[in-house]
Amino acid sequence: MNRTLITDALTVPAPGADLTVAGWVRTVRISKGGFCFIHLNDGSCFDSIQIVADKDLHNYETEILHLTAGTSIAASGKLVESPAKAQRVELHAAEVSLIGTCDGEQYPIQPKRHSFEFLRTQAHLRPRTNTFGAVARVRNAVSAAIHDFFQSRGFLYVHTPIITASDCEGAGTLFRVTTMDPAEPPRDDAGNVDFAQDFFGRPTYLTVSGQLDVEAYACALGNVYTFGPTFRAENSNTPRHLAEFWMVEPEMAFADLTANADLAEDFLKHVFTAVLDRCGRDMEFFNERIDETIIETLKGIIDSQFARISYTEAVDRLAQADRKWEYTVEWGNDLQTEHERYLTEEVFKVPVIITDYPAAIKPFYMRLSDDGKTVAAMDVLVPKVGEIIGGSQREERLDVLVQRMGQLALNPQDYWWYADLRRYGTVPHAGFGLGLERTVQFATGMANIRDVIPYPRTPRSAEF
Ligand code: 4AD
Ligand code: MG
Repeated sequence: MNRTLITDALTVPAPGADLTVAGWVRTVRISKGGFCFIHLNDGSCFDSIQIVADKDLHNYETEILHLTAGTSIAASGKLVESPAKAQRVELHAAEVSLIGTCDGEQYPIQPKRHSFEFLRTQAHLRPRTNTFGAVARVRNAVSAAIHDFFQSRGFLYVHTPIITASDCEGAGTLFRVTTMDPAEPPRDDAGNVDFAQDFFGRPTYLTVSGQLDVEAYACALGNVYTFGPTFRAENSNTPRHLAEFWMVEPEMAFADLTANADLAEDFLKHVFTAVLDRCGRDMEFFNERIDETIIETLKGIIDSQFARISYTEAVDRLAQADRKWEYTVEWGNDLQTEHERYLTEEVFKVPVIITDYPAAIKPFYMRLSDDGKTVAAMDVLVPKVGEIIGGSQREERLDVLVQRMGQLALNPQDYWWYADLRRYGTVPHAGFGLGLERTVQFATGMANIRDVIPYPRTPRSAEF
């Protein structure tokens, strides 16, 4: 079928062309004058095209009048200027052919508002709704903007493995990968499960981060990034956590924490600019229906200068705040979402980069500062979502790295190759991870992270 995308049909400079469009019927309105209006959407853009079908069409009585939402059709005809205000052009159909019928009574996506909770149970059909079509297009634009940004700056895209033997974040939130029979796993002489007999001959997991692997490439190629799915088996039932999410992780050789923070700030501004440029109509929709401040917020961030404060200063600010915290504010405790949101939404009103966290609450690979208490870590916080980026300068000194592993009860042998990078031509280097879903969530104003990934995986939920 030589079809024209609806986005192209709706934006032709001058109407008058003969063309064919195809998609899924959104609504059909029968007019008294012996014709009907079909609104057809093909996902190429937010708007549907209006097709005017006349009673003279051979299948008018038999098929067209019975079309229901969800039916797939193709329509050919002339694109003309629309007399109505609601749209610039419409298609006067010379032919409407039915492609796939849709039981109008059974079809779960009726032409009315459905709750997001309900639509999560219809994850395979929800991309046909306005909201989820728009989310998918914004997610695509964010992904493309991520590559644009790094490619235009000469960062190389590196593919890091999904299956790994190391726990990068050291948080113990790993999903095990095994081919062993859970009912009868092989056992060693002491009766323990013998992972030496497992597929990889050792315990393996789904990766929580591609960072350790991508660091090796930074220490050879300079500026690199990895971008792929990551997995965390944390039992967090929050609107901001997924068990499977996508993360982009740039890593720069010969770079310190300041360069890292500069990169993060430029990067977020680039991504949000791209969303506004490429998804204007979708963003209008989010602004109307989801969050009436979202366009203004994104524009504000693009023009803003991010605040940068140390963890110690953040704790001081929180301690001074006239507010009762659910989680105790005290030097040494990790910041919670309530604290992060307060700082970015109420104190600074722009994104905030918090640096120099206590070593004790951060992973082994972060560079220990001269005070011996803090590490060269940074988190970027944005309103509503809280932490959107986590990163650090890496520990490039072998002796300090080994000492940190010891403190955290990690076995240096498990990280022999990672330590090699410090043994053979070590360099200062730094990087960060941006959660793709938190970014899409933030850019669209969608309240729940489950609604910005096509098929969310969360505790007790892996349907589809
Ligand atoms: O702060 P995190 O854990 O950092 C790392 O994994 C580092 N290895 C990154 C690096 O330095 N290369 O995670 C980074 C980001 C968070 O800021 C957040 O946006 C997102 O990943 N993230 C999650 N998103 C959804 N669901 C979860 N369970 C997430 N955990 C982290
Ligand atoms: Mg983090």
